[in-house]
Amino acid sequence: MTALRDEAARDRIRDDTGSTLFVDAGAGSGKTKSLIDRVTTLALVDGVSLRNIAAVTFTEKAGAELRDRLRANFETVWKDPGEGPEEDRARAAAALEDLDGAAIGTLHSFAQRILTRHPIEAGLPPLIEVLDEVGSSVAFDGRWSVMQRELLDDESLAQPVRLALAAGVRLEHLRSLARAFQSDWDLIEDRVLPGGPPTVTLPDVRRLFDDARDIAAREGECGDPDDKFLARLGALTAWADEYADADDAENQLAGLVAAQELTWSHGQRGKWPAGALEAIRGGCKEWQEQARQVLAQFTNATLRPLAYWVANQV
Ligand SMILES: Nc1ncnc2c1ncn2[C@@H]1O[C@H](COP(=O)(O)OP(=O)(O)OP(=O)(O)O)[C@@H](O)[C@H]1O
Ligand SMILES: [Mg+2]
Repeated sequence: MTALRDEAARDRIRDDTGSTLFVDAGAGSGKTKSLIDRVTTLALVDGVSLRNIAAVTFTEKAGAELRDRLRANFETVWKDPGEGPEEDRARAAAALEDLDGAAIGTLHSFAQRILTRHPIEAGLPPLIEVLDEVGSSVAFDGRWSVMQRELLDDESLAQPVRLALAAGVRLEHLRSLARAFQSDWDLIEDRVLPGGPPTVTLPDVRRLFDDARDIAAREGECGDPDDKFLARLGALTAWADEYADADDAENQLAGLVAAQELTWSHGQRGKWPAGALEAIRGGCKEWQEQARQVLAQFTNATLRPLAYWVANQV
């Protein structure tokens, strides 16, 4: 068999236990094998006890694989040290004995190991447990149902909650937000909480009404009172009439949501001066896009205090 091109690097990982190495390698390239070789050298050649070795993996599966493969390795040497000195056999036996208690496994289990051994220094109760994915998800569900109840009960949040729901935000979205905050909880203090609770500044919607009326006024240019596009402009005028006087946030928001329902189809070009129908329709679409942006600002403004509240709870 021809030697691998990076054989020297592999040998170094196995043998050069005196150096700190950083190894970056792709899937299936032999990382686990190299790690096993290195731990084997440490245990059998350098005589380091497995109690003093930590081999940390990302997943439980990789941790179990590492342990199994190390066991197989040590058993082989223990059964048949081959040319090696009798000392190898004794070291293999000791390694097998220490293997079950060795710090081989996931980062979580490694951290837990340190924390449970030094609970006082870490400021923890002596019996902590690390939740796995399922356990942590169940724990989150429990916390979220409490959080959700408090959110809906909090007087000071009543308006933002009502507005956010009216803007199409669902409790499910806030739950995802809580989840995201929870998984990056360490960033919250620096990035979300400074500045204190945000004040809600709602965007100004008045210009939309002036613009809507300007566009609708162009109905006079049409040469046929039955042209179907006139009904579209009529709907725009009706929209403006219905919501122009809304001075409370809820109705303004309802107006912004309703503006998204208006459509601009139909109408016959021949019934309008050259290019007029296209220009008016273009204006309608631009206007609607502006309304959409104001709606987004509105949603954003109502979400801020909610996001702040959620960040404070997780
Ligand atoms: N130097 C080598 N020569 C021949 N085969 C090797 C060598 N190193 C590893 N292998 C074999 O290649 C396969 C993959 O090795 P290994 O599991 O160590 O890779 P890995 O990088 O840890 O993979 P993964 O990314 O899946 O965790 C195994 O069957 C292993 O026995
Ligand atoms: Mg591997």
